Order: sequence, then C-alpha cells, then structure tokens
Amino acid sequence: MAGPVTGADLAGVLAGARLLPVLTVPSTATAGPLADALAAGGARCAEVTFRTPGAERVLKTMAAHGGLAVGAGTVLTPEQAERAVAAGARFVVSPGFDEDVVARCRELGVPVVPGIATATELMRALKAGLDTVKLFPAESLGGLRALRALAAPFPGVRFVPTGGIDASRMAGYLAEPAVLAVGGSWMAPVAHLDKGDYAEIRRLTADAVERSTT
Ligand code: 3PG
Repeated sequence: MAGPVTGADLAGVLAGARLLPVLTVPSTATAGPLADALAAGGARCAEVTFRTPGAERVLKTMAAHGGLAVGAGTVLTPEQAERAVAAGARFVVSPGFDEDVVARCRELGVPVVPGIATATELMRALKAGLDTVKLFPAESLGGLRALRALAAPFPGVRFVPTGGIDASRMAGYLAEPAVLAVGGSWMAPVAHLDKGDYAEIRRLTADAVERSTT
C-alpha cells in the first residue's frame, strides 16, 4: 500500500468507539464468551495481546464474532503483524515504536498504533507518516499531566493513552481533545477471565461505555 495508514483510518475501524478493551486471554475457549460479554456490554472494538500462546486463535475467533472490530496488541515484530492480519486483525497496536513493524503494517494496509513515551519517539512516529500513537504506559509516565505536556507541541497528533488507566481515570483522558480513545485491561481483567466471570466483564464494560458517553 502506497500511502500512510493514519489515525483517520483507525477512527474508521473503531467506528467512533473511544474505549479499547485490552485483552490477555489465557485460553482459546474463552474467546467466544468473552466476545459475547464485551459486545453485550456495548464495546465496539477490542485488542487481543500477543502475550499468550493461543493469541492468534483467540483473535480469529473474536474477529469472526462479527460484533467487534478486533485488533492485535503487543505486536513486536513485522512477522507478528503478518500473523495478526492473517488472523483477522483490523488494527495493530505495539507497546513501542518500531519502524519495521510500522512499515509492514503499511504494506498490509492495516492501521498501526505504536507506543511512544517521549517527544523523540513521537517525532520518529511522525516521520514515519503516523498521526496517532499510543501513550504508554500512560499513568506511570505522569497521567494527564504528561499527556498534556507531550501533546502541546504536536497539535495534529491524536493519542490512545493506555497503561494503568481504570474506570475512575478514563473520563479525564477522554475529555482531552488530543485523545482519540483510551485503552486498558480493566474491563476484562485476567482474574475474571481465569474464573470465567463473563457477567462481571460485561458489567465492567457497560460501566466504562456509559462513562465514555456521559
Ligand atoms: C497494554 O498492553 O496496552 C497494557 O498492558 C494495558 O495496560 P493496563 O493493563 O494497565 O490497562
């Protein structure tokens, strides 16, 4: 693909959703009921992290669910990006900025959201033609104060802050004009996934969706 795949494409894929549940799914059997719970809670997208052996299969199952735009997270190499897209990923998220991952995603025509934690990394992302980045790990970097300070010199950039954000903090981020969406695992914590507590995942998701629209 010739042109850059930018934040506008990501916003399109997310269909205006401003919440990105980040999932680390322990077992492939969890994928179906988890997709049901997230969709029933009102989520419109989800990120399946490549941190578990079954991540690709989970992604495939969740992508086939149809009710969610499912992307891949913790993508560290171009090869992982290829596998993610083959499994149905509609977008790719990385904890850091890697030119090869970004270039491969561009060739594959899939929006990519690399993580940045400094102005220098952000400038490298801009140089690569991107206009949307993940601020990671947002809370450890200083939360809203860090986001505002980093956003100030880069008026065209949109951020997806992720890392340490929960229900009590999400609205503050969403109120920032520079924030496209907020990501986090608090809607589907591993402890609930381990227990198979999908009712609680649905409740946490619905609570977050409600907070994101008020
Ligand atoms: C990620 O991969 O984006 C983060 O691990 C999610 O961060 P959180 O678990 O603190 O929400």
